[in-house]
Amino acid sequence: MVSLRFLLCFLFVSNVYATIVSHDGRAITIDGHRRVLLSGSIHYPRSTPEMWPDLIKKSKEGGLDAIETYVFWNAHEPTRRQYDFSGKLDLIRFLKTIQDEGLYGVLRIGPYACAEWNYGGFPVWLHNMPEMVFRTTNKAFMDEMRNFTTMIVDMVKKENLFASQGGPIILAQIENEYGNVMGPYGESGKAYIKWCANMAQSLDVGVPWIMCQQNDAPQPMLNTCNGFYCDNFVPNNPNTPKMWTENWTGWFKQWGGKNPHRTTEDVAFSVARFFQRGGTFNNYYMYHGGTNFDRTAGGPYITTSYDYDAPLDEYGNLNQPKYGHLKQLHDVLHSMERTLTYGNISTIDFGNSASATIYKTEEGSSCFFGNGNEKSDATISFQGESYVVPAWSVTILPDCKNEAYNTAKITTQTSMMVKKPNEAEDTPSTLKWSWRPENMDNFLLKGKGESTQTQLFDQKVVTNDQSDYLWYMTTVKFKKRDLFLGKNMSLRVNSTAHVLHAFVNGKHIGSQHAENDKFNYVFEKDVKFKSGRNVIALLSITVGLANYGAFFESKPAGITGPIFITGRNGDETIVKDLSAHKWSYKTGLIGFESQLFRTESMSKWSVESVPFNRTMTWYKTTFKSPLGNDPVVVDLMGLGKGTAWVNGNNIGRYWPAFISSKNGCDANCNYRGAYHAEKCLTNCGEPTQRWYHVPRSFLNAEGDNTLVLFEEMGGNPSLVSFQTTRVGSLCANVYEKNIIELSCDRKPISAIKFASFGNPDGNCGSFVKGTCESSNNTVDILTQECVGKQKCSIDVSTKRFGTPDCSGAVRRLAVEAIC
Ligand code: GAL
Repeated sequence: MVSLRFLLCFLFVSNVYATIVSHDGRAITIDGHRRVLLSGSIHYPRSTPEMWPDLIKKSKEGGLDAIETYVFWNAHEPTRRQYDFSGKLDLIRFLKTIQDEGLYGVLRIGPYACAEWNYGGFPVWLHNMPEMVFRTTNKAFMDEMRNFTTMIVDMVKKENLFASQGGPIILAQIENEYGNVMGPYGESGKAYIKWCANMAQSLDVGVPWIMCQQNDAPQPMLNTCNGFYCDNFVPNNPNTPKMWTENWTGWFKQWGGKNPHRTTEDVAFSVARFFQRGGTFNNYYMYHGGTNFDRTAGGPYITTSYDYDAPLDEYGNLNQPKYGHLKQLHDVLHSMERTLTYGNISTIDFGNSASATIYKTEEGSSCFFGNGNEKSDATISFQGESYVVPAWSVTILPDCKNEAYNTAKITTQTSMMVKKPNEAEDTPSTLKWSWRPENMDNFLLKGKGESTQTQLFDQKVVTNDQSDYLWYMTTVKFKKRDLFLGKNMSLRVNSTAHVLHAFVNGKHIGSQHAENDKFNYVFEKDVKFKSGRNVIALLSITVGLANYGAFFESKPAGITGPIFITGRNGDETIVKDLSAHKWSYKTGLIGFESQLFRTESMSKWSVESVPFNRTMTWYKTTFKSPLGNDPVVVDLMGLGKGTAWVNGNNIGRYWPAFISSKNGCDANCNYRGAYHAEKCLTNCGEPTQRWYHVPRSFLNAEGDNTLVLFEEMGGNPSLVSFQTTRVGSLCANVYEKNIIELSCDRKPISAIKFASFGNPDGNCGSFVKGTCESSNNTVDILTQECVGKQKCSIDVSTKRFGTPDCSGAVRRLAVEAIC
């Protein structure tokens, strides 16, 4: 009995204190073991708590050791000293989910995040405090930053979640990429970074702090790299391991922009190259991007979808082949962990960007053969053998003899995702709508708001960002014989409103939004003013506040003027400056205040003559939840711009009317050569974002669900439909001597549409037979092996498929299967 108690006590103690993190220039050491760490970013508020276990489980199955997340200050402290950690914001629950899955955590407290998140994660009330300047030695800022950072650290400590306490968090981050913008802050910037380091250090978290993109990071901060490639990165302290906090797996999307893609081959190449050249920690930003629900999208103009072309797509589905190809890479790298962290490194340069790196310990060696040439394949002779390394790729040989992995040779299926109609609806295409107008009478006809000022203010200052909407209203009186009163009058507004709707005397005179990233424009419209009192009502709308750049907090938003009325009388132009007029302000819209989006809202809705293309209109409908478990999206094709709610949950801003430009897409994108965010774009000339994620946990599986739309520009809701998203078909194109796994995820494979073993041609969806082909019936073999099954594993070999004579060329199996 005594010994049992002793044993239990020992176990308890060892559990609490087992994991100590240190670093020794080559690797992070955890619990005495030097590690090769693969990590991925998942931002908890960009999915729901119900999605977290599955996302984290898939991350682990994808070969990750750790999950990285920012902490989002403005979400947690929306009003000063009033905190919210509920639902999607339950940081502790998220960290515990990581722990439950046995993964490590990297906690980027910031509290500046960037992250295409509204205002980079800073609360707008912070900006509105007196004498405030962000991210410099400003007392008010530093006090608030310390307050929030300390609070987060204390919360996490209380739950024993730092590795020093036996928890999962092995690294913490203070600030974020300050080095990229610090120039304009001058000496204060340098002092601020020192203060950040001291402040973080004083919090005594027991794990190392990182500062990404900070090459003057004060010791003991670890400076780390962010980018598409980090193989050239050298930390400022020789004792700091080479760490990559953001390997961008794709890119974000803006309204009016296209869909970014970073090829699987190139992501894998960047990772392999990083480990070839002494890297030890690689984090994918993002591993799951998710959704910017509500008003969390940054900006201006970041879309609701934050898919990022990440290994897990916006909805949590495997993005294949990216997920699978990287999983294989992780498995190979993990298998070499000992050699990579203890081995002596030597490099052979073959010229023409080809090189071999050998990691050697007494027990054995592991090799990387790299070819950074964009055009030509390299033939590397090594220890009497000859290896072909394709252009822009890395081959990994865990034993320096046998090729286990090449970044450009994908042996994972490509999954083609499809949207399926909602089968729970009897008549899915005809949702029944009711509607109501947004009540704007007080503003349009009376110009009456909540407060008045004889000045035009930045929108943030007035609204505290409690809403996207701000009315700027004024009245202008003209005498009957006023010189101004003529035919040729116009209203000219110098605007930094992300979107502007202008009304004069109750009439909509025009709208404008920023285009091509120009958030500073002139709105000018001819207007007929009348004698007597005229009401000018300008509705300014923000679409995500700026999140990046030096002093980004003071980038203007709203209507900062000047505003003029001009009158032209022959050659003469008379200008009346309204900027110092009495302006009446009103934050938000009435329908939002009366919560028309609530399911239980008692307001009256009309089912009679539901209008199309009407601005400022509320629409409501009910629908049945789609059957099954596949992720749900709502197709908002036909609508203009606005906000959507499902059962009272704000699923984000929508703007399908914003069509991306026709040019600049590249369907046959070449993975060779350095990636940048304008490479490999798709979706040209299409609505920027048509489908909007509706997490299953927002839905009632039984009974009715409510969708409410606030349509601001005018649109047609009759095409709106709920759909599910899943794998529709899959393809593979794999060389012999590989094993290919085929899977439709949650469904069985239903048919083999194409299969050929030999030298088939074409791409997924358009495969054709080549000049040589096996005489065995490949379709039959695959049908037998795979159809009706959720998963099948095929050995691509002559033994399995016969021996077509392809005159010496390596044979391939091409398959297309229907799910
Ligand atoms: C980095 C930043 C991230 C994210 C990324 C682009 O500069 O640290 O938070 O904004 O760019 O997606």
